[in-house]
Amino acid sequence: MVSISKNNQKQQLLSKIATNDGHGENSPYFDGWKAYANNPFHLTDNPNGVIQMGLAENQLCFDLIQEWVVNNPKASICTVEGAENFQDIAIFQDYHGLPEFRQAVARFMEKVRGDRVTFDPNRIVMSGGATGAHEMLAFCLADPGDAFLVPTPYYPGFDRDLRWRTGVQLFPVVCESCNDFKVTKKALEEAYEKAQQSNIKIKGLLINNPSNPLGTLLDKDTLRDIVTFINSKNIHLVCDEIYAATVFDQPRFISVSEIVEDMIECNKDLIHIVYSLSKDLGFPGFRVGIVYSYNDTVVSIARKMSSFGLVSTQTQHLLASMLSDEIFIDKFIAESSERLGERQGMFTKGLAEVGISTLKSNAGLFFWMDLRRLLKEATFDGELELWRIIINEVKLNVSPGCSFHCSEPGWFRVCFANMDDETMRIALKRISYFVLQPKGLNNIAAIKKQCSRRKLQISLSFRRLDHEFMNSPAHSPMNSPLVRT
Ligand SMILES: Cc1ncc(COP(=O)(O)O)c(C=O)c1O
Repeated sequence: MVSISKNNQKQQLLSKIATNDGHGENSPYFDGWKAYANNPFHLTDNPNGVIQMGLAENQLCFDLIQEWVVNNPKASICTVEGAENFQDIAIFQDYHGLPEFRQAVARFMEKVRGDRVTFDPNRIVMSGGATGAHEMLAFCLADPGDAFLVPTPYYPGFDRDLRWRTGVQLFPVVCESCNDFKVTKKALEEAYEKAQQSNIKIKGLLINNPSNPLGTLLDKDTLRDIVTFINSKNIHLVCDEIYAATVFDQPRFISVSEIVEDMIECNKDLIHIVYSLSKDLGFPGFRVGIVYSYNDTVVSIARKMSSFGLVSTQTQHLLASMLSDEIFIDKFIAESSERLGERQGMFTKGLAEVGISTLKSNAGLFFWMDLRRLLKEATFDGELELWRIIINEVKLNVSPGCSFHCSEPGWFRVCFANMDDETMRIALKRISYFVLQPKGLNNIAAIKKQCSRRKLQISLSFRRLDHEFMNSPAHSPMNSPLVRT
């Protein structure tokens, strides 16, 4: 921690933006990552460490990617087969991007949306991940002090991406569990009204479909309501569709692009899509972000701004080749969605067996876990207290709902696609064991005492714990404190 005087000194020397808290690094969301970084779980090297379940990464299909890379050495410029392209690629620096890259990305975006819409490669603007895309759009669409409405709960990174360096604000549209956190006309109107009363100028609405953290999709009626709403207020609509290909069950994904093509009374100049290859392909390290705007001026100014966050030409070259391999891409999309569905199903079913419910979802790399009944008190302090136990004692880094601006305490986001099957099994057992404690969940001291009496520490051998758990008479949903309450 930097002391206040040091901080002051620093603030005289450095800019206000650079030294303020806008990055959000001090939130519980990132604290969980730190807990993991200090003691990372490893199946053999550190089996008692913290399991990372706070990272929305898609690692379930890397075998397919690796196979493709091995079979396509010409796609890389650092192989014998591809080296002849090295110079051309290394010196290319046009901020429009390689034409074959834009073409391939546009085609991939169409495929992911079931070929129901078309995308014009000339409207594809590159950015450093969706992170860069959001900031770039905020710079293009709003001035410092202006605000975007955003339905809660929402991805915590939006606070950093849209607000930090731009001075733009986010204004919550409060969604609630009583209707599965649906975005309603009423909630939108109320938020807009409230902002007006506070003299905050609303420049747009930001939605994320499929939703992080909910893993749910917006249905056609809701999307039409949203498009009608932004048209009636003459404000922008930014749709983050970064999880478009993570859908693994019905209903199918409906992109805002479908709605826009359908609705006659829509001003297309207000519609902008943010996309990225970080989730659907599982390449967050490649930093491939896309702004797709229907507004010509926004395309043109965003392209100029993209100079600050271009995608490396080497990456463009490789991806142009990979994404153009339609047979591979079709197989990848189908297989990825199947594996995600299987993993999500296994995990949520396992939790249901010990009485933990989750919001019904059919997309994403995470689900929204309901631990409201485990709170000592129904407050955000109560939520953080439970979260600390889960991090420090159960050793799972799940993310508390408050970091997603959820309006109700007791919800947690659990990521399930960034680990192998064995790690998932252990994570499930840890949480099940924790929930099935006969003394009740809030009594972690009692759990520890009980464990040490049996010469077993929760954080000791999970091999042993697995055994204990499976053979315990408590291993029955009927004995779960959750089922009992
Ligand atoms: C909804 C959403 N938008 C944007 C991002 C940032 O993605 P990228 O890695 O492409 O910057 C994330 C990452 O978790 C996300 O969940």
